[in-house]
Amino acid sequence: MNEQERLVSRTINENTTVDGGEIKVEQTLRPQNLDEYVGQDSVREKISLFIKAACQRGDSLDHVLLAGPPGLGKTTLAQIIAREMGTQIHIVTGPTVEKKGDLAAVLTNLQPGDVLFIDEIHRLHMAIEEVLYGAMEDFKLDLIIGQGPGARTIRIDLPRFTLVGATTRTGLLSSPLRGRFGVEMRLDFYPVNELARIVTRSALLLSIEIDDEGALEIAARARGTPRIANRLIRRVRDYAQVKFKTVTGFSIDRKTANEALNLFEIDARGLDSMDRKLLTAMIDKFDGGPVGIETLSSVLSEERDTLEEVYEPFLVQEGFLQRTPRGRIATPLAYSHMGYPAKAIV
Ligand SMILES: Nc1ncnc2c1ncn2[C@@H]1O[C@H](COP(=O)(O)OP(=O)(O)OP(=O)(O)O)[C@@H](O)[C@H]1O
Ligand SMILES: [Mg+2]
Repeated sequence: MNEQERLVSRTINENTTVDGGEIKVEQTLRPQNLDEYVGQDSVREKISLFIKAACQRGDSLDHVLLAGPPGLGKTTLAQIIAREMGTQIHIVTGPTVEKKGDLAAVLTNLQPGDVLFIDEIHRLHMAIEEVLYGAMEDFKLDLIIGQGPGARTIRIDLPRFTLVGATTRTGLLSSPLRGRFGVEMRLDFYPVNELARIVTRSALLLSIEIDDEGALEIAARARGTPRIANRLIRRVRDYAQVKFKTVTGFSIDRKTANEALNLFEIDARGLDSMDRKLLTAMIDKFDGGPVGIETLSSVLSEERDTLEEVYEPFLVQEGFLQRTPRGRIATPLAYSHMGYPAKAIV
């Protein structure tokens, strides 16, 4: 199974054709303003303050860097910033900007106060990143016209704009670029009560009836991630529809949510069958570790990169797995969660 096909994948599933595709559904579910944006209170308060202060001065907002894992609401926040500032948002994705001219075209099209949103900003090509330095700092763009000895540089004034950069990997951002952001904010995984509010809100928008307990049940299995919560609720709806043999007129309660998620093999802590296979292999075959990543990779027939980038982060974050210099270790929590007796300490 690849990452895209997993029900608990944090990245957007571009292939889904059920109910119009995930990209379209996400547009529908996206909060439109800061009041609708659930949770992340400290981020929300800060952004609200900076927006008010900038508006009072009649100035653009300082450049903002948003960091955090996929599906936590970076793109959503960038769109909200533009909306709250009453300006337009222009969206580009780091690796797709191939030529300096592409970026220059976007920059020269900006109106005062506009938001330029650069997604995956850590993947910008170096030469392109350098164009941004002057644009961010002095709102100037240096363009080289012509070639060879006749080439000359012209300097263009840009309107004062706000760059909002999004990254899943702050560590990969160059320091000159990072240093040019006035504001850096990290989005954290959402606690279950906030995810339950997101599930309830999305259900309303999708005309799905769900009670509080049903919402909590889905929230608990959504890995702290709104995108996953929104995906699970739609799949639970499918299950309920078939179970009750009707398209409307049912309400999702804890029991129905539970049955559906069990059928999809997502357990009470949001682990799917692949996560469980990994933990079981570590416990059964290696007595809980330490076991090297290469060994795990061959036992599970999964690429090392996939294990490290897709499976491990959630298991580490939730305390099921530890990475140590000697290898990976299944924690006591992994033993109890997977129904094994505690490992004897020798
Ligand atoms: N705070 C929130 N309140 C309600 N819904 C949210 C919130 N954050 C995210 N969502 C929902 O989750 C979906 C994914 O959010 P978004 O696209 O902003 O994530 P992202 O961080 O940009 O992900 P990626 O790194 O993959 O680009 C959105 O469609 C939105 O409906
Ligand atoms: Mg995004």
